[in-house]
Amino acid sequence: MLRDRLNRGLLSGAAKPLLFAVCLLPFCWLVYGAVADQLGANPAEALIRATGDWTLRMLCVVLAVTPLRVSFRLPGLARLRRMLGLYVYFYAVLHLLCYAWFDMGFDWQEIARDIPKRPFILVGFTAIVLLTPLAATSWNRAIRWLGGPRWQALHRLVYAVAVLAVLHFFWMRAGKNDFAEVYLYAALLGSLLGWRLWYALSGERRRTTVAYARVDQRAR
Ligand code: HEM
Repeated sequence: MLRDRLNRGLLSGAAKPLLFAVCLLPFCWLVYGAVADQLGANPAEALIRATGDWTLRMLCVVLAVTPLRVSFRLPGLARLRRMLGLYVYFYAVLHLLCYAWFDMGFDWQEIARDIPKRPFILVGFTAIVLLTPLAATSWNRAIRWLGGPRWQALHRLVYAVAVLAVLHFFWMRAGKNDFAEVYLYAALLGSLLGWRLWYALSGERRRTTVAYARVDQRAR
């Protein structure tokens, strides 16, 4: 069956290295574009925007893992979530560095003045600040140190990050009155967060946990 095959693939040793390589492709493509001078008339702006776009896309992908895992019964997806989460942070840090370099020439005093001055930058900055403890505690030792429930509560910050990311994008595009993409991401992230709310409230989570426990017992 297709699902069994997918699960086997997700649990195989090749899944993680393959995902790592796929997620790195946008970065390689941007480096190539910069080196080959193929980023258009304003390469600095292209890099800031592309890294922002990839942060948002990776955020959508990581938030889609649980709905896909539960809805299509693909437990193997869970082991890929940490890497996807770290890629969100990787692209966010790249985005921040591109801004600090190309917009501000690494003038840290100027950056410290610019962040509170421009609301859309402040919102983006808050998002990356909130992502930092999540990236820092994505290791097994940190999970053990914090304990499961506290770790889970901390990692719910990713929902606030999703809201801030859309607000950042909305605010940035407000100047240009160009909202089509913003609405698309808002709808996608809204559905992924809405699904979680439904899952938590509908009792579906309890039923799924019981079903997984039964499968586990049978597998033993
Ligand atoms: C999770 C964090 C963040 C996400 C998801 C994010 C996402 C985005 C997105 C989607 C864009 C628009 C790209 C486009 O037009 O195609 C953007 C633009 C931008 N972001 Fe962020 N961002 C984040 C954090 C930050 C931070 C920390 C800063 C700086 C302190 C920042 C500064 C900017 C700037 C300067 C632009 C370009 C504005 C322009 O070209 O007019 N962002 N960001």
